[in-house]
Parts: sequence; structure tokens; C-alpha cells
Amino acid sequence: MVATTALLRDLVAGWRRDGLSVGLVPTMGALHAGHLSLVRAAAVENERVVVSIFVNPLQFGPGEDFARYPRDLGGDLEALDGMGVGAVFAPRLEEMYPSGATTRVRVGELDEVLEGARRPGHFEGVATVVTKLFWAAQPDRAYFGQKDAQQAALVTRLAEDLLTGISIRVCPIVREPDGLALSSRNAYLSAAERKAALVLSRALSRANEACLAGEEDPGRLRPILQRELAAEPLAEVDYAELVDPADFRSPGRLAVLAARFGSTRLIDNHLLGVRFETSPSG
Ligand code: PAJ
Repeated sequence: MVATTALLRDLVAGWRRDGLSVGLVPTMGALHAGHLSLVRAAAVENERVVVSIFVNPLQFGPGEDFARYPRDLGGDLEALDGMGVGAVFAPRLEEMYPSGATTRVRVGELDEVLEGARRPGHFEGVATVVTKLFWAAQPDRAYFGQKDAQQAALVTRLAEDLLTGISIRVCPIVREPDGLALSSRNAYLSAAERKAALVLSRALSRANEACLAGEEDPGRLRPILQRELAAEPLAEVDYAELVDPADFRSPGRLAVLAARFGSTRLIDNHLLGVRFETSPSG
């Protein structure tokens, strides 16, 4: 485990001198099979893999779950054991934000809609920490999950805009056998909420079936999502939209959902017309 950017930089510089390629997997820990799928993808494509674990305060809003966000460094290291990870970068707060740090990175336009509109400052926090991680690890490739579709698009834009030369790889959503997308926040759900949360993947699946059967009009597919979500009394829907995956703004085939179950806010998405990798039941 590496705790400082100086040590990480030395380590990576050594690998680079030896001509080895480097993949970076940024995470906030509480690792689950979704995270591990990114690590696996990174290990296939790179000779060395860096996994970062840092719960980034800058991307949490004032009323959000920074304080209670699950932290389990011991469990995370155990989960990564045997996966061929070259370094786990687990910096302290002061390492990522030296006292007096005021620099922020903002990715325009993509940060104004959906998650960006609902969570002011969230994407600025993500873009700032990801930029720091890119500088610290200097990877050839960096791995993100389609689970956070808007984040993945935003980071792709950032990597291009800032001329990083880093190739951004977006990996498919890993789901539970019953369809629920894996998320560290699933740990907050009560048994009843856990059951209710299946409505997200069910709604995506219903709209997907309609799309696969030939319905391509977002204006007709959207009500399918909304009807399914409305039928679940424990779901407090934040948004259910069909957007163009290029801008998350104009109408398109990417179905994006956000809903609250009790105090837990979950997101999910699916590109309609593409079969699910694991089929949500119901
Ligand atoms: P975190 O929520 O820990 O997620 C780390 C990475 O794992 C993200 O790229 C996320 O999209 C991916 N991921 C999460 N659940 C997944 C699933 N079910 N299937 C596939 N991939 C999944 O996202 C963050 O951390 C932070 O915003 C971060 C990028 C680390 C910046 O702080």
C-alpha cells in the first residue's frame, strides 16, 4: 500500500523506465464485484495496475453521506489480494488536498444536467480529484464504470480536454443476479428498500424489451419507465429520462434513472436496444 503521491510517482516512474504499461482504477473503497471488474479489465490491458482508494469529500454535498460512507480498508486490501495489483494508493485527506488548496477542475455542459443539476458541485469534486489522481499515477489507461454513466462521459471529456493522453475505458455495469446494480450505497438499504430498489432495473428492462421489440421513440419509451417506477410506493423518483449518451441532454436511447429509497439515493442506466448482460428478473 502506498499513502503518498511522492512514493506513487517513484513507483510508477520505475515501471515506466522498465517499459511497463500502467492502468489506474480510481475508487472510494468499500469494494464490490463492480469495482473488481474494473481491476480485472485493467490487469488484462496493462502490465501494472494502480487502484486508488479515497473517499473524496469535495464530491459530497452538505446534506450528503460523506460521514457515513462505508470505509473498510482492511476488507478492500483483502478483496484485491491475488488480483495482480501493483499498488494500492490510499492517501490521507491532507495528501490529496494540501492545506490552502483552492484549485478546482470543472467540465462544462455535461455537469449542468441530471446528476450535475441535482448535486451542485459534485462533478467539480469528481473532476478535481480525478485530475489529481491522473497527475499522481500518470497511467496509460484509466478505468471507470458505466454504472455512473454521466461521470464516465465527463471523465472522458476531461481526459481529452486536458490533453492527458490517458485512454479512458468504460466497463459494463455489474448487477446482482436479481438485477440490482452493485453499489457501495446498497449497504444502506433495509430489506424492504432492497426489494423496492429492484424497480430500477425492472423499469430499464421493461423499456429495453419494448425497444428490442421495435419501439424507438423516446417519447413512448419514457412513459414505460415512469409507469414502472410509479408502481413502487417506496421509490421516490428523482428523474427518469431518455437522453443522448453524447450530451446527456438531447433525447436519445440512454435510459437514466435516479430515485430515493428511504434516505438512500440510487442511480442506474441502460442503453436501450442492447440486451442486459445479466437479466433482471420480474
Ligand atoms: P466509486 O463509487 O467507488 O466507484 C469507483 C468506480 O467503480 C466508478 O468508475 C464506478 O462507476 C465503478 N462502479 C461502481 N459500481 C459499479 C458496478 N455495479 N458495475 C461497474 N462499475 C461500477 O465513482 C467513484 O467511486 C468516484 O466518483 C471516483 C471516480 C473514485 C472519484 O472520487
